[in-house]
Amino acid sequence: MRRFSSLINRRNLVPLPTTATAQQSRNKSAVSTTKAASVVEAITSRRSIRKFLPDPVSVQLVGRILKEASRAPSGGNLQPWQVYVLSGSTKDRLISAVASQMEAGRNGENKGPPYLIYPPELTEPFRTRRRVLGADLYHLIGIPKSDQPAKLRQLAKNYTFFGAPVGLIIVIDKQMNEPQWSDVGMFLQNVMLLARQYGLHTCAQEAWANYHKTIHRICNVPENLTVFCGMAIGYVDPDAIINQLDTERVRVKDFVTFCDVSENSEEMTLLSKL
Ligand SMILES: Cc1cc2nc3c(=O)[nH]c(=O)nc-3n(C[C@H](O)[C@H](O)[C@H](O)COP(=O)(O)O)c2cc1C
Repeated sequence: MRRFSSLINRRNLVPLPTTATAQQSRNKSAVSTTKAASVVEAITSRRSIRKFLPDPVSVQLVGRILKEASRAPSGGNLQPWQVYVLSGSTKDRLISAVASQMEAGRNGENKGPPYLIYPPELTEPFRTRRRVLGADLYHLIGIPKSDQPAKLRQLAKNYTFFGAPVGLIIVIDKQMNEPQWSDVGMFLQNVMLLARQYGLHTCAQEAWANYHKTIHRICNVPENLTVFCGMAIGYVDPDAIINQLDTERVRVKDFVTFCDVSENSEEMTLLSKL
């Protein structure tokens, strides 16, 4: 971990643990199993869940969440989001089609994702943030850094929607640009927060973009649409250690510039503590 912290730009310094024990306690916290009663609670109790209970979620409830989420704002009210809900045999067929391509040791017909999931030369501090996430996650579930096969087995669980009873595939018309992709992000955040209000949890999954052609084929997604991501929706397995992952956020002062607050003011001292 020390190696990671030394890579962090001073301005973006986040407290990192120096021992495995400190790391484990910093990154672990109990997951909420109750319904969020406020927006703040929905935001703070949301986290990416990577092991769900098999308990069913009705498509009626999913439909309701999607309707409410569609109140998201969008530039020009384009509402550029489109969603495929997988809750039965289509989900099973997609999972098994992807599994057989993975077994063959390549991503088969897909030839990589339809867009660059990350910039190829990710710079600091983003590179470190991404590496810390991976290191924390694998450490929490006891996978050593060098155990590549175990890491791949964990990664492959993405392609089961982490056991969730419902999977969403989110697609966007190919003519859309950055502003519309950001609109879709706002819609997805609504879905994730509404899920918390109904006692559900989620995990957004770009991993599905790696199998976009398989998704087109199995879910009959027209060619004018691009697969952005998937999303698992279901009830959290509260006993799964992986669901205890509590990810870091940088301090407010490290991503906000308060243009009209002077550097040495009392106000800035208070803001810098956020
Ligand atoms: C658009 C998007 C795609 C993501 N894709 C994946 C994914 O494919 N697999 C995964 O395990 N987590 C995925 N995540 C979850 C992120 O890793 C997670 O949001 C981040 O580490 C912060 O943790 P938190 O969601 O628990 O707060 C994705 C998140 C977003 C917003």
